[in-house]
Amino acid sequence: MIEDLLVEKKSRFERDFFYVLKTSSLKSAPPQLREATLYALSGKNKRLRPILALEAARLSRLDDTRALAIATAFECLHTYSLVHDDLPAMDDDDLRRGQPSCHKKYGEATAILVGDLLQSLAFEFLATADVPSLTMKYFARAVGAQGMVAGQFLDMESQSTNTLRLHRLKTGRLIEAAVALPFFVAEGKLRFSIARWGRDLGLLFQITDDLLDASQDSATLGKTAGKDAAQNKKTILALMGVARAREVAAALAEKLAERGRELFSDSELFPKLPRNLLGRRA
Ligand code: IPE
Ligand code: IPE
Ligand code: MG
Ligand code: MG
Ligand code: MG
Repeated sequence: MIEDLLVEKKSRFERDFFYVLKTSSLKSAPPQLREATLYALSGKNKRLRPILALEAARLSRLDDTRALAIATAFECLHTYSLVHDDLPAMDDDDLRRGQPSCHKKYGEATAILVGDLLQSLAFEFLATADVPSLTMKYFARAVGAQGMVAGQFLDMESQSTNTLRLHRLKTGRLIEAAVALPFFVAEGKLRFSIARWGRDLGLLFQITDDLLDASQDSATLGKTAGKDAAQNKKTILALMGVARAREVAAALAEKLAERGRELFSDSELFPKLPRNLLGRRA
């Protein structure tokens, strides 16, 4: 069962993750800043990006120490994006990962700095993994002007925009990088077929995030439900309605499963993941 596999992979990652964090510069941060950072990294969550990175690292035969550092970089970067996404100037969300969001608990200034610190930690961990500079550049671009930050900007501004492009940027690029970067590190060149698969997986993930926002309750999600409609967000649902969004997601999941079987024949996880994400409840 893929659900059991995901639970097992998540708990194995978390055991190593909190240990490896202690070996980083985080240990020298002022205690309150360190506490707030560890708080943001905790709570109810899926660890999807590190699970993807660890599976890609296994398939590309990276050693365990480098794989863990790369997976940790992705979780730090992703958590930074969540902490800033929740700030009053952005989505203004009080609940995250089943607990008060970072700024609710520690104040806005600390939450901004937690995000900044988490972003720096991501690059520190990639350096610890001794990744080649071209892969570092690829990661930086997936985060910044050609990735998550650009997508978040388009999400915030009121101008109309291409919603699918916005989703591919704000969520797709980081998920793409989690799948593609380990292969890039191991093989010395980016495999575009794998990168495209990862980016579409990220698009599927954000479509289901939008569907869940409209259909689930806050307790199940661990974050405030119904926020997208309340804030007039440029979601896939706003673009095409719930029924069509479900159809698009289902078709995308089928395509990804089929392509996943071709690209990752040695993986138990990747070909099954699209359908799992389609049916997820949180
Ligand atoms: C939420 O990400 C933000 C999006 C990009 C949709 P996740 O749903 O992966 O959040 P956690 O890590 O499980 O809390
Ligand atoms: C955020 O999208 C994507 C990020 C880059 C953090 P959302 O604003 O929909 O994420 P949630 O629903 O608050 O987790
Ligand atoms: Mg947002
Ligand atoms: Mg949000
Ligand atoms: Mg959302």
